[in-house]
Amino acid sequence: MNAMHTDPIPNPLQHQSGFSVTPALEAEVNELLTHYPEKRAASLMVLHAIQDAFGWISQEAVEWTAKKLDLQPINIYEIVTFYPMLRQQPMGKYQIKVCRTLSCALGGAYELREHFCKKFGLDAHAHGPQTTKDGKFTVEFVECLASCGTPPVMMCNDDFYENVSHAKADEIVGKCK
Ligand code: FES
Repeated sequence: MNAMHTDPIPNPLQHQSGFSVTPALEAEVNELLTHYPEKRAASLMVLHAIQDAFGWISQEAVEWTAKKLDLQPINIYEIVTFYPMLRQQPMGKYQIKVCRTLSCALGGAYELREHFCKKFGLDAHAHGPQTTKDGKFTVEFVECLASCGTPPVMMCNDDFYENVSHAKADEIVGKCK
């Protein structure tokens, strides 16, 4: 029996049709590589650069990154599936993250997420991130955002909000153009 394992390594990430790295992104990645003693050490930073460019990490992105870093796709795939901040599916233009840890849960986080879901026509009972059909908003629960004294707490992309009433939530959404 041949001891060589020839089955393809599982990579159940979604496909991204038309995935193409721009010269600017490749230049950014090349520059990143200069900061590390070996290419592999730059894996996480390269993935962040790719995620900044595309919003998520696809099968094609994993394969491109592996090739760029002289690694196997499994070496990149294991990083993508380990770190929750690396996205395995396309996200909306605006990512709304509602903290659901204890203080926020008691302070109305579940009602706040439900408010967003109803507002956007999403299923409030579904698990995981949900994105509107037009790709504008993604709503999801996250764990503690480190402002437990001012619940409920949320982020909209990089902006941080505390004591978010439903009226304040509507205001935040209204600013998302
Ligand atoms: S519990 Fe929500 S910020 Fe800590």
